[in-house]
Amino acid sequence: MKQHTHPDLLRATELLKAGALVAFPTETVYGLGADATNDLAVAAIFKAKGRPSNNPLIVHTPCFASLCSCIDLSNHPDASRIRAHLDALQPLWPGPLSVVVPKAGHISPLVSAGGSTVALRIPAHPLALELLEACEIPLAAPSANPSMYISPTCADHVRQGLGDSVALILDGGPCAVGIESTVLSLVTDKPTILRPGAVTPEVLETTLGCAVITHSSASSAASSILASPGMLAKHYAPHTPVMLAHELTKDTHLPTRVGAIVFHQGSLLPFTPVLRLVLSERGELTEVAAHLFAALRELDSAGLDLIVVETCEPRGMGAAIMDRLVRASFRSSTTR
Ligand code: TXA
Ligand code: MG
Repeated sequence: MKQHTHPDLLRATELLKAGALVAFPTETVYGLGADATNDLAVAAIFKAKGRPSNNPLIVHTPCFASLCSCIDLSNHPDASRIRAHLDALQPLWPGPLSVVVPKAGHISPLVSAGGSTVALRIPAHPLALELLEACEIPLAAPSANPSMYISPTCADHVRQGLGDSVALILDGGPCAVGIESTVLSLVTDKPTILRPGAVTPEVLETTLGCAVITHSSASSAASSILASPGMLAKHYAPHTPVMLAHELTKDTHLPTRVGAIVFHQGSLLPFTPVLRLVLSERGELTEVAAHLFAALRELDSAGLDLIVVETCEPRGMGAAIMDRLVRASFRSSTTR
């Protein structure tokens, strides 16, 4: 019998095959996994997260062949273009990239919120790959957090947020990337980024050899299936109000207990916070991304009135970081 590297791997596999929920690590964030071909198992994901049923899930597979087996291109008018794009993208997997493609019939319709497309990716985490290979089933896995809260980047975050609603949490340590995968639609006229992530537009354009569009949420506002997390202006948000440092002016009235998250050791702020967390000693954006969600969680549980977060240019990895920060800081009369 094959020796698994993690003591809980065999049990995780058995639970998933029996239709239970298992949280597992990926390189981006922890996923709340279930058999993507089992309607009841997928329904349990939506229930555990309190996720609206019109927000579709990402399906994870261990290799390119099994990713392709979740796609149905037969009779699709753009089959050859989608096939060519998939072949071009193959070198980016395993990695933090999800593609939206026409869905194969054996994937539960609940995964795709009743739509004809499915988001697929091959995660770059040894434990996730081992789990996917052992299960021999595609796993639907959204981020393992209650809907609307910050995604989990370690096993403890999953335990705090979902606790007893998960049969098992496979602990693979902290996630290296720290923000969710880039979501790229291949079913639009031109490849379109629905959610920015560590695989940047520049990398996608070079890999595909064509222009890539960055989605504007306004263009899909009419759809009842959410085209992207961009449809939810507030997302990934702590309970404590968040303000972006660049919004501060000399007239801003700050409450008493303000915490700050800065990108590097030398970052200067125009006020003295009661708590100050540094994401990266030298302000490396990959480190900033890796540590951002854990820092937001830490300050969210510190009894503060406000969290102020440093910002960056929305380019490359900076675009993915700013996307999450803008959502975390979104304020509206209906959500606060
Ligand atoms: O990094 C990640 O992608 C993590 C890890 C666990 O893989 N997963 C993740 O899943 O972030 P989730 O469900 O939290 O975010 C997936 C996003 C959703 O907001 C959804 O709107 C979009 O992908 N999505 C999924 N299927 C789609 C589809 N068929 N068409 C358009 N967007 C889709
Ligand atoms: Mg999520």
